[in-house]
Amino acid sequence: MELKNKTAIVTGVSKGIGLATVEALLAQDMHVIGWGRSAPAAISHPHFHFVKCDVGNYTSVEAAMQATLAIAPAGIDVLVNNAGLGYFRLFDELTIEEMTEMMQTNVMGVFFVTKVVLPHMKERKLGHIINIASIAATNGIPEGSVYCASKHAVRGFSSSLFKEARPFNVKVTCIYPGSVKTDFFVHYPTVQVNDNFMQPQDIANGVVYCLQTPANLLPVDLELRPMLLKM
Ligand SMILES: NC(=O)c1ccc[n+]([C@@H]2O[C@H](COP(=O)([O-])OP(=O)(O)OC[C@H]3O[C@@H](n4cnc5c(N)ncnc54)[C@H](OP(=O)(O)O)[C@@H]3O)[C@@H](O)[C@H]2O)c1
Repeated sequence: MELKNKTAIVTGVSKGIGLATVEALLAQDMHVIGWGRSAPAAISHPHFHFVKCDVGNYTSVEAAMQATLAIAPAGIDVLVNNAGLGYFRLFDELTIEEMTEMMQTNVMGVFFVTKVVLPHMKERKLGHIINIASIAATNGIPEGSVYCASKHAVRGFSSSLFKEARPFNVKVTCIYPGSVKTDFFVHYPTVQVNDNFMQPQDIANGVVYCLQTPANLLPVDLELRPMLLKM
C-alpha cells in the first residue's frame, strides 16, 4: 500500500510500541488517529488526533469510531490493534480482576475495535489490520498463563480473520514480538529489562514493512526476535 495520506487507527498510543508506531506512520506522511485511555505527551503533529477510548469497553469503542469518522470521513485504511497488558505470576496467585483485565483488553478489545472498523474496510474494499500479539501466542510461559491464553486467542482470531477478509481486499497480519524495552514489564517482577531487548521502533518498523507490501502480497505472520549480542 502507498502510505502517503492514508489514515490509520492505532490503539494504546500513550507509550511503548503504540507510540513508536504512531511516530513511524506519521513519518510516512500518514494521518494517524490514536485511541487510548491516555494521550501521548510527546506528539504534537498536524496529522495526529487523539481519541479517548478504553478498548475493553464496547460503548467506548463505538463512541471512538463515531469521533474518528468525523475526523476522517474518507475512511480508515489501516488499523493497528496494539493496546494490551500482562500480569505475570503463578496462575493461582493472579487475581480475578487481573485475569479479567487481560482478557477484556487483549482479546475483547481486539474483537471490539475490529468489529467497528472492519465493515468500513470491507465496504471500501481496501484495508490492512495488524494485530500485535506476542511470542506468548506461540508457546506457554511459566507465570504467563493468562497472558499467553489471551495472545493465543489473538493468534487464532487473526488466522481466521485473514481468510475471511482476503476476498474483500482487506489484509490481516499478526505480529509476534519477543521482548521489547517498554513499561510492559512493570507487572513482570521476575524479568529484568535489559539492553538486549528490542526497541519499540523495531516493532513499528515491522508494521511499516507489512503495510508497504505490494497489493497482491499478504504477510500473514511476522515473528520478531532480538539477537543476543548484548548479553
Ligand atoms: N513489551 C514487550 O516485550 C511486548 C512483547 C510482545 C507483545 N507486546 C504487546 O505489545 C502491545 C504494546 O505493549 P507495550 O510493550 O508497548 O506496553 P506499554 O508500554 O505498557 O503500552 C501499552 C499501551 O496499551 C494501552 N492500554 C492498556 N490497556 C488499555 C485499554 N483498556 N484501552 C486502551 N489502551 C490501553 C496503554 O495505555 P495507558 O497509558 O492508558 O495504560 C499503553 O498505551 C501489547 O499488546 C503487548 O501485549 C509487548
